[in-house]
Amino acid sequence: MNVLVTGAAGYIGSICSEFLLSRGYQVIALDNLQEGHAAAVPPAATFCRADLGIRSQIEEVFSHHKPDAVMHFAGEALVAKSVREPSTFYAANIAGGVNLLDAMIRHNVKKLIFSSTAATYGEPHTVPIPEDHSKSPINPYGKSKLRFEEILSDYRAYTGLHYATLRYFNAAGASAERGEAHRVETHLIPKVLDAALGLIPQLEIFGSDYPTPDGTCVRDYIHVLDIADSHVRALESIEKVSGEAFNVGNSRGFSILEVLDAAEGITGRKIPRKFSPRRPGDPAVLVASKEKLHRILGWQAQHSSLDEIITSAWTWKQKHPHGYSEAASR
Ligand SMILES: NC(=O)c1ccc[n+]([C@@H]2O[C@H](COP(=O)([O-])OP(=O)(O)OC[C@H]3O[C@@H](n4cnc5c(N)ncnc54)[C@H](O)[C@@H]3O)[C@@H](O)[C@H]2O)c1
Repeated sequence: MNVLVTGAAGYIGSICSEFLLSRGYQVIALDNLQEGHAAAVPPAATFCRADLGIRSQIEEVFSHHKPDAVMHFAGEALVAKSVREPSTFYAANIAGGVNLLDAMIRHNVKKLIFSSTAATYGEPHTVPIPEDHSKSPINPYGKSKLRFEEILSDYRAYTGLHYATLRYFNAAGASAERGEAHRVETHLIPKVLDAALGLIPQLEIFGSDYPTPDGTCVRDYIHVLDIADSHVRALESIEKVSGEAFNVGNSRGFSILEVLDAAEGITGRKIPRKFSPRRPGDPAVLVASKEKLHRILGWQAQHSSLDEIITSAWTWKQKHPHGYSEAASR
């Protein structure tokens, strides 16, 4: 099967492409490289530099490569940027997504897996969070993802599209070949490792007075290879799960200080830290219920102990302290 992976030069898309190839799928890797890295795209994939904002470029990819299914990772994903520039998020995550759906319909491609997020829930009133929890996103990033989930449900009703939505919690970890290298890094584990390597002077911890055991925020970290596995399972059962949303998390939260302790143990280095006030819009605890993904798709996290997540990220970071080489071209 020929799978079009949008955002395939990004962190999760590149590792899912690698995973798909290892399972015998062919991969058409689409990315505009605004955030991703050409060197992250697996060599066995067919790379297409294209922008989801430009319908003619998407059309060309579909006409030439004739995908059978789509995994849609491309988009804007930085919460802080979404608060400053909401229109960028609505254009990329909603309008760009609609351009993709329209190309799928024109070319009779009926299978889609969509990358959504825990940010669609907003401030949770129940933890672990089940998929039917109320949705009150508190930033334009979460709102743009939730709107696109609603649009998908319309396309299913009117065009017969089969889709599944996967709402990841905190993606983390690395494969042997690929890891996390955002141009502006906001995620905890790569920042902790940057501090361990001395690439940043210290880790800034936002808030020490949350109602959690040690006062710092608690998050649910899920290994990117377990995310990749959830995608393949959803694709392989797409007609059975069409229209469904699944959390992708480990149902186990760790505080920032717990992550720091584990990282100091694994790296053998002292990680300097500094406490700052809370940031607006950071819930105290975000932990997924993973029950539905297990019950319906038989998924079980295989790589998501905190030790394995940090060890894999640290191994990759030591080999690539400054991320991917931008010299690579395809
Ligand atoms: N990283 C996480 O913890 C996390 C959590 C929940 C959900 N998600 C979602 O997973 C997806 C992937 O996240 P990531 O961390 O790999 O992000 P990323 O920024 O590393 O990857 C996104 C990729 O999309 C590409 N892209 C952006 N706009 C595009 C456009 N208009 N046309 C073509 N390509 C475009 C970028 O160049 C980049 O390579 C995103 O949709 C994100 O919202 C991520």
